[in-house]
Amino acid sequence: MARIPQEFRFDKVSIMTSSPNLQFVVQPGGKLTGRLRVPGDKSISHRSIMLGALAEGVTEVSGFLEGEDSLNTLRCFRRMGVRIEGPDALGAGRVRIHGVGLHGLRQPDGPLWLGNSGTSMRLMSGIIAGQDFDAVMEGDDSLSRRPMRRVTEPLALMGARIDTHEGGRPPLRVHGGSKLKGIHYVMPMASAQVKSCVLLAGLYAEGETCVTEPAPTRDHTERMLRGFGYEVRRVAGEGGSSTVCLTGGGRLTATAIDVPSDISSAAFFLVGASIAEGSDLVVEHVGMNPTRTGVIDILRLMGADIEVMNERVVGGEPVADLRVRGAKLKGIEIPESLVPLAIDEFPALFIAAACAEGRTVLTGAEELRVKESDRIQVMADGLVALGVDARPTPDGMVIRGGAIHGGTVHSHGDHRIAMSFAMAGLRATGAIRIEDCENVNTSFPGFEQLAHGAGLSIVSTGEAS
Ligand code: S3P
Repeated sequence: MARIPQEFRFDKVSIMTSSPNLQFVVQPGGKLTGRLRVPGDKSISHRSIMLGALAEGVTEVSGFLEGEDSLNTLRCFRRMGVRIEGPDALGAGRVRIHGVGLHGLRQPDGPLWLGNSGTSMRLMSGIIAGQDFDAVMEGDDSLSRRPMRRVTEPLALMGARIDTHEGGRPPLRVHGGSKLKGIHYVMPMASAQVKSCVLLAGLYAEGETCVTEPAPTRDHTERMLRGFGYEVRRVAGEGGSSTVCLTGGGRLTATAIDVPSDISSAAFFLVGASIAEGSDLVVEHVGMNPTRTGVIDILRLMGADIEVMNERVVGGEPVADLRVRGAKLKGIEIPESLVPLAIDEFPALFIAAACAEGRTVLTGAEELRVKESDRIQVMADGLVALGVDARPTPDGMVIRGGAIHGGTVHSHGDHRIAMSFAMAGLRATGAIRIEDCENVNTSFPGFEQLAHGAGLSIVSTGEAS
């Protein structure tokens, strides 16, 4: 019998807070030129550790993102008994995972720390639900505010038992020893994290597990499972929906993974070069998975000049070099069908909208309110602080392009907000100070140096903790 999803009272343990003392100061003007390569894809880096750990044999990863989020995933699997070499000892971006097989994880000796990373917590919930031990997962203030019922509810339907803090928030205690059974889950929202969580639990479930998504979301889990030799079936449905299925009880076989550069990190440079007159920048080796390229489509609709060059397939993922030149952008109504395909790029796209002529309208993006920060409110507050006409709505924003003044904005510890406002400096009339930038390291170590090298007048002040 299916267990009814329950919520348990769970007393929080040792929540750490990040210190909001690292600031970026960006002097106005400049342009972006040259060639650069941004760090590895965060979504693929997380999954390479998870599937590499659960595989039989040794998985070699190159291009791994050495950011705090994916490093937290790596540390957690080490604590569950997986031998992982690198990245430091093997050279930049190289990791070697000695897989323990689907049933070889060991109970960690204490709570698993996931920092700022929602992806780690949601995907690992599915994996740990299939183990025969209990584990606690906790994270920083931002992660502790994020909704987890979206994964605990389908997992409960599969037979898992998970305690949450009030309101379905972290920390989570996943109880081991449950016998999982396959379900057909129709997701209420377009979420790759929820889809991946259920599919990963499905590896341990009896019978078939299927997830129907209302609109296409990133498919790295499905692609990588296939790369590890696991059969995953996809059936197209009506109106853009589709269903992904797998059958539990199989095995994963180690493979090599070449992680492309993260299009979500490239996005800051695509926007920066587009808004700064005279820019001509090539961003190399960018992951071009069609479930991730909405940012290019939206920028092109706004009039951006982005050339896709040297397209190739690397390790099962499409990759290209992107040449972007300064252009006159115009405001648009962003098609809702592109929202899940650009879900992490809206902070940067809001900056593009602020520099465009006319009005840009975003709707159907209420998911932005439950990211690392409430990205609708936090971006609107920052834009208004810089003199931009930005009006938040429950599911999006209306921005009228115009002048960007200097001023101080608060990133609320959200990496993508910090980097987006840094790019706004290219078009500002005065210096922009951005507070609380330490979490840029979660997804983009070296951002300041790379952006500076391309022509952004950025310095950091204060101390990272
Ligand atoms: C991710 C999925 C997206 C995205 C996040 C990474 C993933 O989240 O915002 O940064 O790796 O599966 P949702 O599934 O909540 O949309």
